[in-house]
Amino acid sequence: MKDKIDDLLGEIEEFAIQNKEQLEAFRIRFLGSKNVIKDIFTDLKNVAPELRKEVGQHINSLKNKAEEKFNAFNNESDSAQEKSIEDYSRSGEEKHLGTIHPLSLVTNEFIDIFKRIGFVVADGPEIDDDWHNFTALNTPEEHPARDMQDTFFIQQNPDILLRTQTSSGQVHYMEKKQPPIRIISPGRVYRNEAISARAHCFFHQIEGLYVAEKVSFADLKQTLQFFAKEMYGEKTKIRLRPSFFPFTEPSAEMDVSCSICGGKGCNICKYSGWVEIGGCGMVDPNVLKNCNIDPEKYTGFAFGFGIERMTMMKFQVKDLRLFSENDVRFLEQFKAQV
Ligand code: DAH
Repeated sequence: MKDKIDDLLGEIEEFAIQNKEQLEAFRIRFLGSKNVIKDIFTDLKNVAPELRKEVGQHINSLKNKAEEKFNAFNNESDSAQEKSIEDYSRSGEEKHLGTIHPLSLVTNEFIDIFKRIGFVVADGPEIDDDWHNFTALNTPEEHPARDMQDTFFIQQNPDILLRTQTSSGQVHYMEKKQPPIRIISPGRVYRNEAISARAHCFFHQIEGLYVAEKVSFADLKQTLQFFAKEMYGEKTKIRLRPSFFPFTEPSAEMDVSCSICGGKGCNICKYSGWVEIGGCGMVDPNVLKNCNIDPEKYTGFAFGFGIERMTMMKFQVKDLRLFSENDVRFLEQFKAQV
C-alpha cells in the first residue's frame, strides 16, 4: 500500500504538464470522478486498523499534492490566456499625424475655387530656360524689366535659370495647346533677394491664364472678384491699380480689402485697408504670337499671385520666414484647418 502511494507521489511530481491536453489528462487521472487516488481510498479498508489513520493521512497528502499541482498549472494557463487577451485589446500606438502646410492649404483652396469655374492645373518646371522665363514673355535680353527680378542663373550655362515667376508656365502650356485655354499653375519661384520678414530667395506663386475668343478685361475683373469673395469672404472687395508687366497690356496690380480689419486699417495692411496680392492684365499679343497662337483671333487674361502674401493675410502670419523654417510649433497651429 505504502509503495503504491509512493509510486503515485512520484508520478504526480514527474507528470509533465506543458499544455491544456496534458493538464486535462492529469486532472482525469488524479482528480477526476474515477481517479486513481479514490481506488487507494477504497483499499484503505484492507489496511490494519492501527495503521489506517497514518495511511489515510498519506493518501490525503497525495490528494492535496495532486490538487496543488493542478491548481498551479491551471492558474498559470488562465493568466497566460488573460495576458494574450490583454495583448490583443491593448490600445494601438498613437499615430502622430502631420499637418498640411499653410501654403499648401491656401494653394489647395485656390485650386478648388478655380476648378469650379473650369480651370485645370498645369505645372511648369522650376529649372527653366531664358526663352520661357523671359524672352517669350515679351522680355527680350537687355529689356529693363529683367531688372525687376534678380535671377539665379546656372553658372555653366547662362541660358538655364531658376524660374523667377510662374508666368513661364503660360509659355510651356500655350506652346503645346491651342485655345480655349483655362489653366492655373502653382509653384515655387526663385529670386536673388535678401531674406527678411517680407522677402525671400524662394517663394510661391500661382499663375492663371485664360485664352479664348473675345476674352475681355471685364472677364478678368469678374473672375478676380469671384475668387476674392470665395477665398476671403462675401464682403471682400478688390481694387485694380494700373501697372506695368511686359507680358500684359494693359496691366494692373490687384489689391484685396484687408480681411483682418475689414478695410479699416491694421498692421497687416499697413493701415491702408488693402493688401496687394499680385499682378494681372490682358495677355500681350506678342506673347500669343511667340507661342504660335493667333492674336487676331484670340485674346486672353493672365494673373500671378503670391501665395505667401495670400496666406499671410488669411492666417495673420507676420513673417514669411516662418513658412520655410519647419518649426513644428508654427506648423501645428494649422491642425484645425485640415
Ligand atoms: N509674373 C509677375 C511677377 O512675378 C506677376 C504677374 C503679373 C503675372 C501680371 C501675370 C500677370 O500673369 O498677368 O511679378
